[in-house]
Amino acid sequence: MMFESFFEVTARLLWCSIHLMRIALLVEYILETSVYPREAELLKELRDATAHHPQAYLSTSPDVGQFLELLLKLTNAKKTIELGVFTGYSLLVTALSIPKDGKRANVENKIEFIESQALPALDLMLKNNEGSFDFAFVDADKANLKNYHERLMRLVRVGGLMVYDNTLWGGTVVLPDPSSIQTTRRHAWQATVDFNKMIAADPRVDISQFAVGDGITVCRRIY
Ligand SMILES: C[S@@+](CC[C@H](N)C(=O)[O-])C[C@H]1O[C@@H](n2cnc3c(N)ncnc32)[C@H](O)[C@@H]1O
Repeated sequence: MMFESFFEVTARLLWCSIHLMRIALLVEYILETSVYPREAELLKELRDATAHHPQAYLSTSPDVGQFLELLLKLTNAKKTIELGVFTGYSLLVTALSIPKDGKRANVENKIEFIESQALPALDLMLKNNEGSFDFAFVDADKANLKNYHERLMRLVRVGGLMVYDNTLWGGTVVLPDPSSIQTTRRHAWQATVDFNKMIAADPRVDISQFAVGDGITVCRRIY
C-alpha cells in the first residue's frame, strides 16, 4: 500500500482548491459576459424576487435558462412540458421562447399549470397526448427519473427533446459512493447515478450531457 506524504496531500488539496476556484470564476465569467446582458427583464425580475427565498438554490440558474432557450428555439418547440416548478424561472424561459401564433416575447395563454404529483399527471396525459410534445424539461424529484423518462418517451414525439436537470448532482456523481455527502441527498445521488447509467445505455435516444449549471442531459427521441 502506498501512502501520500504530508507534502503530497497538501499539494493535492491546494490544486483541488485552485481548480474549484477557477471553475467558480469561470461560471461567474460566463454569467457576467454571456448570460446576464441578454437575460429578459421579466426573468431578471423573477430571479431578483426569488433571491431572498430560503430555498432560492432550487431555481433554475440563468445559464441553464439560456441553454434551454437556445434548445427550444433550435428545435422550434411549440408544445412543451415541464416537471417540477419552484418560482418558475425555467417555465418563464420556456413561455418566452416558444412561439404563439408565430409571435414570441409574451407569456399570455401559453401555460397550463397542473398542481399535482408529476407521475399521476403524466399517466393522465398519456390517455390522449401520446407523441404530441416537442420538448420536455424535467426538474422534479430524482427518485422518479426513470419513471418520468418512460412516460416522456411516449409523450414526446420522435425527434423531440427531453432535458434532464441536475444530472451531475452538485458534482458528487464522481464519488465512488455517497457516504461523504449529506444523508438527505444520498437517495437522490443514487437515483441520479443510476439514471445516468440507464440513459447512456438507452438505444431509443441520442444523448449529450453538459456541465452547465448542475449538469444537464439532453436526449433526443430516436424511435
Ligand atoms: C428544483 S425545483 C424546480 C425549479 C424550477 N426549474 C424553477 O426554475 O422554478 C424542483 C421542484 O419540483 C417539485 N417536486 C418535487 N417532487 C415532485 C413530484 N413528485 N411531482 C411534482 N413536483 C415535484 C418541488 O416542489 C420543487 O418545486
